[in-house]
Amino acid sequence: MQGLRMHAGRVCPAARLPMNPTQLPAWSSLARRTSPARLPEPGSSAQRQARDLTFDAAGLRADLSRHWLERDTLPLLLELAEQAGLPSWRQRLFDGAAVNTSEQRRAWHTALRSDADAGVVAARDRMLALADALRAGSLRGATGAPIDTVVCCGIGGSDLGPRLVTEALGRPGGAARLHFVANVDPVELAAALAQAQPERTLIVAISKSFATMETLANTRAALRWLHAAGIEPARHLYAITAAPARAQAFGVPAAQVIEFADWIGGRYSLWSPCGFPIALAHGGNAFDELLAGAAALDAHFLTAPLARNLPALLGLLGVLYINFHGLRTRAVFAYAQRLRYLVPYLQQLEMESLGKRVSRDGAPLGFDTGAVLWGDVGTTAQHSVFQFLHQGTQVAPVDFITCAAFERSADERERLLYASALAQADALAGGDAVLGADASNAAEPLRCPGGRPSSFITFADFSPRSLGALLALFEHRTFVQSVIWGINAFDQFGVEIGKKLLSQRLPGQ
Ligand code: F6P
Repeated sequence: MQGLRMHAGRVCPAARLPMNPTQLPAWSSLARRTSPARLPEPGSSAQRQARDLTFDAAGLRADLSRHWLERDTLPLLLELAEQAGLPSWRQRLFDGAAVNTSEQRRAWHTALRSDADAGVVAARDRMLALADALRAGSLRGATGAPIDTVVCCGIGGSDLGPRLVTEALGRPGGAARLHFVANVDPVELAAALAQAQPERTLIVAISKSFATMETLANTRAALRWLHAAGIEPARHLYAITAAPARAQAFGVPAAQVIEFADWIGGRYSLWSPCGFPIALAHGGNAFDELLAGAAALDAHFLTAPLARNLPALLGLLGVLYINFHGLRTRAVFAYAQRLRYLVPYLQQLEMESLGKRVSRDGAPLGFDTGAVLWGDVGTTAQHSVFQFLHQGTQVAPVDFITCAAFERSADERERLLYASALAQADALAGGDAVLGADASNAAEPLRCPGGRPSSFITFADFSPRSLGALLALFEHRTFVQSVIWGINAFDQFGVEIGKKLLSQRLPGQ
């Protein structure tokens, strides 16, 4: 067929010649200037504390002055972004073009933060109406008793983002108690149902495909629990899905299916009706504010010059460390207990988006892509993995993330959180030299060499708007790296094999 290209078993429209970033002039220049073996010495120009390496975006602030940005590194990275076509791919993302090239779909999560698409607004309104009714205690079960417990069964992108934001926003409100159930291990559902009364409990299955084994198994178990108590399960079951026919075939009444578009990627879906738990716990206004915060960051990403564009800069730094310094992991430490689900959320967002070995055109790549993302919360992690970070033989770039309001908090413990994050960033950058140790005195070997890079990112407060901007920042940072590498951030064929092998192994399948 003329002009068609086969790859990954799929037929794609004629594609332009594949963009191989290693053949771009800026890539070659960067490769000449940096080598994986050479780590800048503490205090060298690469460690300069330049005021102009602090950037603001939608209420976020990022101090990038502790990065290996020698004099001409940043200009070359910005040239690389231009040569890789970042501006045009960014526009395609926002226009709802088919940037998910292998599935020929849009990845239009930015539309979820606006009212541009009528279908998006209608689905959001249906989700918010259900959340509002439950918060008001006006939804009644089969016996007429008001619903006071909601069990959300979902996994991956149908769980991680909603779980993160629900906890980050603080104490939940409303008339219904919320439980998340993700793992297929019976323990999680049992814990959720232990305190629940069947006649007052609603099961909400959140699943884009409505074919995920764990979610369906947990939902079936919950329905068996209702049935055993003499409750008609269908009266206590909702589905939030992009596969309404499957949900109805499963037994969900059509009126209790909230549908969303299939061009919403699972790991980008907390802004869609999948964000139902957030609205249930914190209300529709909070959900709208979350969207507004993400929309503000969207506007920054779309309009800020690349040299001041925070998602672009962070994405380019990711490429710098992986491809030009050979640092294949990145650590993230949120200095806020309420962000304890940030790392699991980012692991899916970044590793499921960037863990790719072929280009958009299906050609095997000759360079590394997505980093291993790991981390925890501070200050706890300072007592487990920071020895590795300061003195290990493997350097890992670090994202320190904390709340700007902690710096001058009335609570000394929040001030301690903030100061600890800052002290750790400085210690990684400066090593023992910052304490006056004499690097030239061989008798006093530097226990911590320093010269280790980090970003220091703050969000204003724990408002929905601040958190929306923070999470959108990481979505767009991920997209930037995919564009530089010429890979598709929005498919996940790697997870299909295990699912298929599982179905062969399950007894009686
Ligand atoms: O991990 C594979 C995956 O398909 C994710 O991309 C997705 O977020 C998760 O499983 C759950 O999928 P679904 O929402 O279709 O149940």
